[in-house]
Parts: sequence; C-alpha cells; structure tokens
Amino acid sequence: TAAPVIIAVDGPAAAGKGTLARRLAQALSLPYLDTGLLYRAVARRVLDAGRDPSAPGAEAEAHALAPSDLDRTDLRTPEVDRAASLVAAQPAVRAALIEVQRRFGRESGAVLDGRDIGTVIFPDATVKLYITASPLTRARRRWAQGLDVAPVDGDQTAHIEAVAAQLAARDAADSARAVAPLRPAADAVVIETDAMDAETVLAKALQVVRTRLA
Ligand code: CDP
Ligand code: CDP
Repeated sequence: TAAPVIIAVDGPAAAGKGTLARRLAQALSLPYLDTGLLYRAVARRVLDAGRDPSAPGAEAEAHALAPSDLDRTDLRTPEVDRAASLVAAQPAVRAALIEVQRRFGRESGAVLDGRDIGTVIFPDATVKLYITASPLTRARRRWAQGLDVAPVDGDQTAHIEAVAAQLAARDAADSARAVAPLRPAADAVVIETDAMDAETVLAKALQVVRTRLA
C-alpha cells in the first residue's frame, strides 16, 4: 500500500501557515492539524496553574492534554503566545507531543503546520513547505487579524511596530532553542509570500504538491 501523504507546513509566526495548511487539507481531502495549538494548550494549562512557563516541568501539562483543551477560545492571546514559545523550548514538552502528532498523520495522511514538522516530526514527509514573509508583512497580517495586539498608546503604525517586536522576539526564541529550532528542512520548498495573497500561495503550494505526487 502507498505511504500516507504527509504535507509539512513550517515557518515563522503569522506567515500564513495555518491559512495555507487548512486550504491545502480541504483541497486534498486530508485531515489538518495545527500543531501550534498543542503548545498553546500546554502553555494555557501552565498559566492556569499559576506556574512559570519558563520553569522546567511543563511536560506534566503536555501529558494531561485532552482534546477539549484545543477548543479553548483563549489560546491566541499575547500572554499565551509568549508562554507557548517558552514551554516549546523544553525538551520534555516536545518529547511528550511527538507521538500524538505522528499518530495523527500516520493512518490516512495529513497536513500539519508548525515549526519542526519537516525537520523532526515527519522528516520523510511527502512535501515540505516553508512559508515565510518579511517581519513587517507578517506584523501587518497579524495586526489585521486583531490578535496578538498588546495595548499600545498611539497610532496604527505604533501598533504594527509593537506586533512586529512581539513576533521578532518569539521567532528569535524559536530559532535559537537547542531542540527542534525553527528552520527550513534541507529539502523544503521555501515560499516567500510578501507579494502573494492567500489564494496565490495556495495555487503555488498545490503546484508543488501535484508535481511531487505525479
Ligand atoms: O498560521 P500563521 O500564524 O503562520 O498565519 P495565519 O494565522 O494563517 O495567517 C495570518 C493572516 O495572514 C491571516 O489573516 C491570513 O488571511 C493572512 N494572509 C495569509 O495567510 N497569506 C497571505 N499570503 C496573505 C495574508
Ligand atoms: O500562529 P503562530 O505562528 O503565531 O504560532 P503557533 O504556530 O500557534 O505556535 C505558537 C508557538 O508554539 C510557537 O512560537 C513555537 O514556540 C511553538 N511551536 C513549536 O515549537 N513547534 C511547533 N510545531 C508549533 C508551534
């Protein structure tokens, strides 16, 4: 039997990974997993317990994750952004989440988006995409979503600059950590999306996928 089709979508914060991965999954009739939600849900549990997300031991929360944790509506706040990146740097947290991600794709294939899907979770993925854009473009996209915006006095430019600073700090931490740092896999197709809308990115990605599957 043919191996299940795994599409890895990695890249920095607010590049459009989730938007692309969801559309790819729909176009290809594959299940979709937003792996960032796993780290966000762990972070949420750590914060709720009144614990420090940078202190070792968050694997307890990772082992305790239930499906309903991923449905919480408070996973995309600036506080959880930072805490998710902190717990994601803990090797024991990453180890606790590897199997659930692999199991998700193993049976019928999947599209997964995150930071280390093509490098660590599925190093033999059928297709590896690395979605990126300049820090300013990504900050504008996140700002336009009305998420991640810490209150700032001042105009729209100041708001976007504040978002850019938050994204830059998180990307720096995600890229510098010792375990599963953010980086394109050697065999990833890098898509620079500064001048592309979401439809154009999808078309480009589908082209890559179909060429690979042919
Ligand atoms: O998952 P990730 O954090 O990488 O980004 P996202 O939440 O999927 O996308 C951030 C925002 O950028 C969404 O509002 C998208 O509609 C928008 N966007 C995009 O995803 N792709 C483009 N090429 C342009 C904008
Ligand atoms: O949507 P956005 O790109 O802002 O973030 P996310 O994909 O929801 O991921 C939140 C945080 O979880 C990231 O900043 C990473 O620290 C961590 N993460 C990770 O380490 N590995 C993954 N596969 C996915 C997320």
